Amino acid sequence: MSNYHIKNLEEYFQVHRKSVRNPELFWEEIAEEHFLWRKRWDKVLTWDFKKPEVKWFEGAKLNITENCIDRHLRIRGDKTAILFEPNDPKETAQHISYRQLYERVNQLANVLKEQGIKKGDRVCIYLPMIPELAISTLACARIGAIHSVVFAGFSAMALSTRVNDSDCKMVITSDGSYRGTKTIDLKGIVDDALKECPGVETVLVVKRIHSEIEMKNGRDKWLQPLLDKAATECEPEIMDAEDPLFILYTSGSTGMPKGMVHTTAGYMVYTAYTFKNVFQYRENDIFWCTADIGWITGHSYIVYGPLANGATSVMFEGVPNYPDWGRFWEIVAKHKVTQFYTAPTAIRALAKEKLDCVERHDLSSLKVLGSVGEPINEEAWHWYNDNIGKKKSPIVDTWWQTETGGIMISPIPYITPTKPTYATFPLPGIQLTLMDEHGEEITGNQVDGRLCIKFPWPSMARTIWGNHKRYKETYFSTYENQYFTGDGALRDEVGYYRITGRVDDVIIVSGHNLGTAPIEDSINEHPAVAESAIVGFPHDIKGNALYGYVILKETGESRVHDNLRKEINQIITEHIGPIAKLDKIQFTSGLPKTRSGKIMRRILRKIACNETDNLGDTSTLLNPEVVQEIMDNAL
Ligand code: WTA
Repeated sequence: MSNYHIKNLEEYFQVHRKSVRNPELFWEEIAEEHFLWRKRWDKVLTWDFKKPEVKWFEGAKLNITENCIDRHLRIRGDKTAILFEPNDPKETAQHISYRQLYERVNQLANVLKEQGIKKGDRVCIYLPMIPELAISTLACARIGAIHSVVFAGFSAMALSTRVNDSDCKMVITSDGSYRGTKTIDLKGIVDDALKECPGVETVLVVKRIHSEIEMKNGRDKWLQPLLDKAATECEPEIMDAEDPLFILYTSGSTGMPKGMVHTTAGYMVYTAYTFKNVFQYRENDIFWCTADIGWITGHSYIVYGPLANGATSVMFEGVPNYPDWGRFWEIVAKHKVTQFYTAPTAIRALAKEKLDCVERHDLSSLKVLGSVGEPINEEAWHWYNDNIGKKKSPIVDTWWQTETGGIMISPIPYITPTKPTYATFPLPGIQLTLMDEHGEEITGNQVDGRLCIKFPWPSMARTIWGNHKRYKETYFSTYENQYFTGDGALRDEVGYYRITGRVDDVIIVSGHNLGTAPIEDSINEHPAVAESAIVGFPHDIKGNALYGYVILKETGESRVHDNLRKEINQIITEHIGPIAKLDKIQFTSGLPKTRSGKIMRRILRKIACNETDNLGDTSTLLNPEVVQEIMDNAL
């Protein structure tokens, strides 16, 4: 029985049982089989969820880029590592071989060193989906610098907050980016952001759109001339297993975004293992994950997981509707993609278009389809299964989080029978629990509760950068000795899990996690706004859209509401980015509050969702009369 390429459901159960009975042995076998270690670990696992502290493969020494690149050179030097598909289909795709990747990563690593970056320094990467993005992450890892990729759709303010939170010394960006027919002035955004970031000494700029940009003397440097002078060999920095590999920010329900810290060995072992298992990866497959590397899905399943397996990973710069809604399928056909991994929001958008967009392309290369980021609704699941998979390619509905580092719940394709909207079974090594509101574990099947994980896994985030207390409070304080995911889930009669959605104030819009508090904070900065509250409501493409209730200040000034709505969305765009814009804004004289002054979001949510038949008990409210007003004026 192998931990990989499980042959049937019985074997899955056996492997899972083994991983629960003796987790150390299970992960040790995987770590031994597949990786290049400079020194073996002394201890597989140390853990204590009370502190919380988790360490995997303590004492081991390695460099993840040796595992993702160097190790493959002898047998796969000429194989394509990164297959870059540009925004414009007329621009030629780039096949970057493992050898070329090795050279480009080492050159950039040498440039970073020359610019004063050392082991442990933080480097912010703010780039579009071009090869330099993947290469920058690997170049940091090569020299032991900690990368912090910020999604290039975030605003200047969101960028500066993230740069400052982790004290980045350097930003790597480009002169601009392409998105369908549009170009975006990324360097301008960086310039704005850095007005607030005194710690940034250097900005390296990739030339992508050849636009005229300003270069700040002494700070900004074009990358290419530096690369041209750099050597193609760079000795890897030998890292400890638990040295940080990267920081990636994710929204919490309150406060600052959380800089989740992932460490080296555990993250590598887990992403490599799950990539191979969940996508049933075989040599010569062409794997395409449509996520942006600005999110965890891109880190784990465009860069580290695929490359650790010596796979070919497709990177797509563009958008699904340029030049038309057939673009994804054109790419699948052109590169003979075997595994295709995307988000429900994309599936819903694609399903709205004419079927001809799909049917004119040959999708016969596909073997496995994946979904991630939010619950997939039944209709989207069937559309994906019928039209893309032609009922032959299983759908792996993969549940996981930025914090988990890798996929936690998923069918194993061709082994686990799929069921629409169910992520099915936990992967080997993963021990799930459902908890009730009193903190008791709910046993048995056909139950629902709050999803927790009771045993560590190698790729769990170890802390929040600079705030271990918040890490403990957010994930380990709700239930004793459990990691709390923030999601609700149900377990059906055979033990399959279905994720029902967030149980906190995080709303997932088009697959992006948005905390309500930071959006409310930015709205409240508008001079005319006194207070606001945000809730989610169902949207047929985005999954959820945002509904804002806004109380205006009594200024006596009569402003046109539509203008105010635009201004409010403008402020949100400046503070966070266009992804957090509100679809509906209702002005109101008050918000329903408890006697302790907390906004009763439950009521606002029901009104936004048009479910006003059963508002529940409103008698305990401080101001029950406001509920009727809000209902009468609902949008
Ligand atoms: C949600 C993305 C249902 C969930 C990898 C989780 C899902 C949050 C699924 C994490 C799924 C992710 N079914 N819900 N298959 N996958 N989610 O950090 O609420 O961007 O907590 O990580 O997305 O989002 P994140």
